[in-house]
Amino acid sequence: MSQRDALTCVQRVTRLNSHQLCDLCQLEDLVRTIDWADGAIELIDQTKLPSQVDIRRVTTIDDLITDIQRLAVRGAPALGVAGALGVALLAQQREDRQELEEDASRLRAARPTAVNLSWGVDRAMKTVDSGPEAVLDEARTIRDEDIAACLSIGLYGADLMHDLIKRQSARIMTICNTGGLATVERGTALGVIQTIFEQGWLEEALPLETRPLLQGARLTTWELSQMGAPYRLMVDSAGPFLLSRGRADAVCIGADRITANGDTANKIGSFSLALAAQHAGIPFVVAAPESTIDMSTPDGEAITIEDRGPDEVAGFHGVRTAVPGAPTLNPAFDVTPHHLITAIVTDRRIVHPNQGETLSTVPFGSTRSV
Ligand code: MRU
Repeated sequence: MSQRDALTCVQRVTRLNSHQLCDLCQLEDLVRTIDWADGAIELIDQTKLPSQVDIRRVTTIDDLITDIQRLAVRGAPALGVAGALGVALLAQQREDRQELEEDASRLRAARPTAVNLSWGVDRAMKTVDSGPEAVLDEARTIRDEDIAACLSIGLYGADLMHDLIKRQSARIMTICNTGGLATVERGTALGVIQTIFEQGWLEEALPLETRPLLQGARLTTWELSQMGAPYRLMVDSAGPFLLSRGRADAVCIGADRITANGDTANKIGSFSLALAAQHAGIPFVVAAPESTIDMSTPDGEAITIEDRGPDEVAGFHGVRTAVPGAPTLNPAFDVTPHHLITAIVTDRRIVHPNQGETLSTVPFGSTRSV
């Protein structure tokens, strides 16, 4: 296998937690969703998956902002790392402090709903006075913390599902992509599903296709296929009906922002699943790192929901489907109220909002590792 083939080796890219020697390209290091390499940010362009594994080198802040907005890099935890690496890039390129701060503000605002983006930018900005290497170190720390957090979420989540699910094997519905592509490695909700699969009791994953760019159909099925996990894909609007027919034992989703009262913003379609899960009497579980909890926002009403404009609704893949000038609504996320959430699983604890537990009273446990 040539050097170039090795760089784009699908198996290596998607072995998002194995750290084994790849039998195709014989390299041990993983290509991560996003990372720093040779003075630039490298990221997998998620808009091209699954047909192409294209690793982009991003050398300017404008390109990074564009990549975030066009969903080349996406998913709340991955955006946190993107924000911090973006500040690392700025720290190397901007001598003028005011310019650096203005660019950091633009980066921070590139997508408004996922709190991890502003969190990653702000955390990296606190180290700017210590010089570019310190900023890069902080960004790498955030990257490494995210890897550890996802492993821990999977373990806590699998234990929780074991307690919640009454059958011996699990059928778990999920939305969007919450796997290694949405984080740095392994993922949140999909990480829980992966852990259950590795433990040998996943009957099937039930991913929804997910708007606006079919993140579930393109990315989640790609990751599930790489894992070898059983799954069936469905359109978003089939989810609630299939829950009502008893086709899943639990719903497990990720989160873009969890507010102080436990309300959770996540991919559009999550709220309908929560209502249907309540109707069906099955658990609705949110899996996210502690970095997605935003105690400064009191409740879901206060979350800014990104509207992505008309093009993704009035057409698909560049082909216009609606009549010219059709007015649209295109919220990328919705908010599930805390009383519909059976459990929030983080890397350090499990909180049961629908039993009156709150994020401010449930104490932190330790980060788990295998
Ligand atoms: O618009 P996207 O693809 O960035 O939306 C992502 C989601 O809604 C995910 O569920 C969320 O960020 C959690 S990712 C671990």
